[in-house]
Amino acid sequence: MVGRKLLGAALGALLLGTVSASADTIKIGIIGPFSGPFALQGKNFQAGVEAFMALNGKSVKGHDVEIIYRDLPAANPAQSRALAQELVVKDKVQYLGGVYFTPDAMAITPLLKQANTPLVIFNAATSAIMNTSPLVVRTSFTTAQTTTPLGKVAFDRGIKKVISVVSDYGPGVDAEVAFKKAFEAAGGQVVEAVRMPLNTNDFSPIMQRIRDSKADAVFAFLPSGPTTLGFVKAYNDTGVRQAGVKFLAPGDLTQESDLPALGDGAVGLLTSFHYAVSHDSPENKTFVEAAAKAIGSPEQLSFPSVGAYDGMHVIYKMIEATDGKQDAEKAVNAVKGLTWTSPRGPVGIDPETRHLTQNIYLREVAKDAAGKSYNKEIQTFANQKDPGLAAP
Ligand code: PHB
Repeated sequence: MVGRKLLGAALGALLLGTVSASADTIKIGIIGPFSGPFALQGKNFQAGVEAFMALNGKSVKGHDVEIIYRDLPAANPAQSRALAQELVVKDKVQYLGGVYFTPDAMAITPLLKQANTPLVIFNAATSAIMNTSPLVVRTSFTTAQTTTPLGKVAFDRGIKKVISVVSDYGPGVDAEVAFKKAFEAAGGQVVEAVRMPLNTNDFSPIMQRIRDSKADAVFAFLPSGPTTLGFVKAYNDTGVRQAGVKFLAPGDLTQESDLPALGDGAVGLLTSFHYAVSHDSPENKTFVEAAAKAIGSPEQLSFPSVGAYDGMHVIYKMIEATDGKQDAEKAVNAVKGLTWTSPRGPVGIDPETRHLTQNIYLREVAKDAAGKSYNKEIQTFANQKDPGLAAP
């Protein structure tokens, strides 16, 4: 509340002309984890932004575009709100983008209306974020969206009993609910549902519970980063995999940048997701080349880069539609129903929810001819909306 008052005062000053808006440079403030354990995820945001600007230019309709990055190393709503306020008030950004973790997005959306600023989310994946402000648009995915096709696939592959294990916060709960719904509708049964604190890093007790459950498979969601690497390592190293318990997860758990560290332990893991770095299309080839150049090497690329790349596409369309003027409502309205070909495949902004409609792919970690692990797309579920936001 105090924060909002401060923002109000500063915005008032801006309107009175005590703080003058800079000439014709459109500033975009991007919040992400650029340092700390999740730094590679943030670097993927930056690679996506830089790839987009390298391929599409640094100005729109004669308006120069300037990016201001702000580091938010871990989920921290208070710091997220403070950074967003500072970007709007002090740096005078016209657009906010980025945001890796759900709680950080939830802390920003209440500010958007007063700030007259759209937020384009590059990652945070809880369905309900979209209901918290009409000025938020999302170019990533939701865990309900990526997970739903997996329920039927699992049952069709002979899996009857599953233990679900998720991080206990928005995207984890959404994943648990969506998987259970789809899997049980197909005929399966979730025999146990475990929610772990977000900061869990010792997974041995969980692995014991998985074995004790006698389930045919574990369904898991954790936010990508050191967390997922630790979980998949534990699945391999504590004998759960050797005991024959199958693995099901959204692709957050087999992001490409983790595959070298997982070695042969990753091969065969079954996931569903909106993007694989290996996706075979001319658009993705162009994107991967530019993004790899931006981040330093193709091995570091992962899904946040494509969320950022498409996020920039949306922001450029907003700048075009408003001809550089700050009008958040007009900017958001202009991209409702927008469709284009992303590096991940055909996508569109659902005008009802402002979330991305996209293909979800079933993938299996495989080795290429050079012995390098990758997510191999084996089936496409076309044109998926977010089932977490669909009318009941
Ligand atoms: C989220 O906090 O919304 C989040 C973070 C990382 C992921 C997925 C979702 O891999």
